[in-house]
Amino acid sequence: MRLTVIGTGYLGATHAACMAEIGHEVLGLDVQTERIAALQSGRVPFYEPGLEDLLAKHVASGRLRFTTSYAEAAEFGEVHFSCVGTPQKSGEPGADLRHVDAVVDSLAPHLHHPTLLVGKSTVPVGTAERLAERLARLAPAGADAQLAWNPEFLREGFAIDDTLRPDRLVFGLGTPDSAAETLLRQVYAPLLDRGTPLVTTDFATAELVKAAANAFLATKISFINAMAEVCEASGADVTQLSRALSYDPRIGGRFLNAGLGFGGGCLPKDIRAFMARAAELGVDQALTFLHEVDAINMRRRDRMVELAREQCGGDLLGRRIAVWGAAFKPDSDDVRDSPALNVAARLQLHGADVAVYDPKAMDNARKMYPSLGYAASPTEAAQGADLVLHLTEWQEFADLDPVLLADEVAHPRMLDGRNALDPQRWRGAGWTYRALGRP
Ligand code: UDX
Repeated sequence: MRLTVIGTGYLGATHAACMAEIGHEVLGLDVQTERIAALQSGRVPFYEPGLEDLLAKHVASGRLRFTTSYAEAAEFGEVHFSCVGTPQKSGEPGADLRHVDAVVDSLAPHLHHPTLLVGKSTVPVGTAERLAERLARLAPAGADAQLAWNPEFLREGFAIDDTLRPDRLVFGLGTPDSAAETLLRQVYAPLLDRGTPLVTTDFATAELVKAAANAFLATKISFINAMAEVCEASGADVTQLSRALSYDPRIGGRFLNAGLGFGGGCLPKDIRAFMARAAELGVDQALTFLHEVDAINMRRRDRMVELAREQCGGDLLGRRIAVWGAAFKPDSDDVRDSPALNVAARLQLHGADVAVYDPKAMDNARKMYPSLGYAASPTEAAQGADLVLHLTEWQEFADLDPVLLADEVAHPRMLDGRNALDPQRWRGAGWTYRALGRP
């Protein structure tokens, strides 16, 4: 089929390359000319394992092209995917729908024939219904310009796999058994043929699935981090607690790693937007618990700074601190709402001399916090350090030799914010090892 993918950020670029991989002809559209030029030459302007190879493969084969023209996209596509961002509004918890609206406003006037626009962005419930009306009103094709909602669940670092082998597909439709469903089934035929579970539903449910999934994941992380607080107060070990819980199949072990908590471009903003929307709908009480989830998550950052101060003898002023990790999670260069960088910046505010190192996120970190100190390697960051903080669990850090590193630092003190290093190994090499939620 001939598909267009509008918005070539993280979600769109991945979706475009993966749709080409399953056999479609794809035209990617973005309003940023530099981004389009990079993608057209096979370069991905962010780090995602495997994506650059997949993109280059399909640009070379001719199955994947890019444009900045809505007229060209409208002419080309049988189905259009909208993959633009829905960031948090500045100074408000709600989602900013400017880009989502702009896609409809820009594409609709060019739609003269029956066509399908499929929204994939995370939006407040009620958005799809509003957009469907707007699309039919603005398109010359009228009601033959249909909308569907098909939320995306991909994780950064696993984006290709999550797109090509998703846990499930969700189709939100304006009317049951519509032409929209037939088209979506054709688009995803290779995935459906492999037995991928499909839920077809209405707009509101499809929108809510995404919000609910992220709320659940955030809650699971904050649950174990709340247990970490209790462990800290009682001398228990949250990693052993979490392991023991994980053997209960009703609970399961995934998203039960206690540490510095969640960040990134999705979970924090999505739970806030969800609460804001619930308040508009008059059901704010139903989601009051998400406020606690958010608060528990933010408290972990406070605790990390407090522990760092404790380890430095009660005063951060003038202390040299190495921060390992800047990305919000490993295998990503994304620093949006990164707990690691947030802690690094707070330490600097308290007068510490901070040196940050991350395998992939250095450029993005520098852009966001230009005044922080940066080092070219984890060892360089650790040189002369009074304290080393492990804040993003890259494999590279777990592979380092604590014996060799002990010679580089001023004081061999490790604070593990991700419970991902082996305490025995570090203690055996002469380090003081402390972590969140453990004695
Ligand atoms: C998330 C959802 O997983 C995905 O389905 C959705 O589409 C977008 O948001 P992502 O933001 O890529 O994906 O990251 P994810 O892997 O979910 O991790 C989120 C944050 O939680 C990270 O900061 C991570 O470090 C943290 N985390 C995760 C924990 O602190 N503990 C855990 O056990 C798991």
